Amino acid sequence: MNTSLPRVAVLASGRGSNLAALLAAREQGELPVDFVLVGSDKAAAGALRLAEAAGIPTLALDPRSYPDRRAFDLDLFARIAASGAELLVLAGYMRILDGDALRPWVGRMINIHPSLLPKYRGLHTHRRALEAGDHEHGASVHFVTAELDGGPVIAQARLAVETGDDEHRLAQRLLPLEHRLLPAVLRLLASGRLQWDGHAPRFDGQPLPAPLILSDHGLGDPDLPLAE
Ligand code: GAR
Repeated sequence: MNTSLPRVAVLASGRGSNLAALLAAREQGELPVDFVLVGSDKAAAGALRLAEAAGIPTLALDPRSYPDRRAFDLDLFARIAASGAELLVLAGYMRILDGDALRPWVGRMINIHPSLLPKYRGLHTHRRALEAGDHEHGASVHFVTAELDGGPVIAQARLAVETGDDEHRLAQRLLPLEHRLLPAVLRLLASGRLQWDGHAPRFDGQPLPAPLILSDHGLGDPDLPLAE
């Protein structure tokens, strides 16, 4: 463990391609953080194998071993705190979190969600965007609050829907943008440029009136200098 770097824990339920993007960014020197724990609610999650291969401690907890959601989440968050993590990233973590259990992490926990929030909270976001006839789809990274997929949005990546997109193709085309978006936001949070003032995000000390947008040049806003 390199104690001089911000300590980050990651939760993931699935294959872990967003985790892989975080690890790659760190390897390339673009994300100066120390990953102290990767946890999952699924012992078979690919994300856990990726973490093991990278030498990061892992944690797999089975929700069925707990009486209820709150008990599971309280134990999970206690173990994350014990890892020394200061920041927490949900990278494809597919469980709803208990509001009381997550409260100590508000402002220090971000989630990536495959839609242009506030559109399409919850599941099947690509299908719902197509069914609605949207011309634009995307992904959002937001601070996690007790409201499911409802915390303040920090940054978004936008993608034009193409003729021929089905649910699978749209998801596949969005994923590379997710893989740029999540490390870029974590980098801002870890560096202190992005902060939580108790209610809302602040970027370089200023309120963030609208989500930062991912472009070829990094994260930015038409009215703000590029963050990278
Ligand atoms: C990603 O598309 C992520 O945006 C989504 O799960 C996928 C995980 O893929 N997250 C959610 O739907 C959260 N509500 P990965 O395991 O390859 O990173």
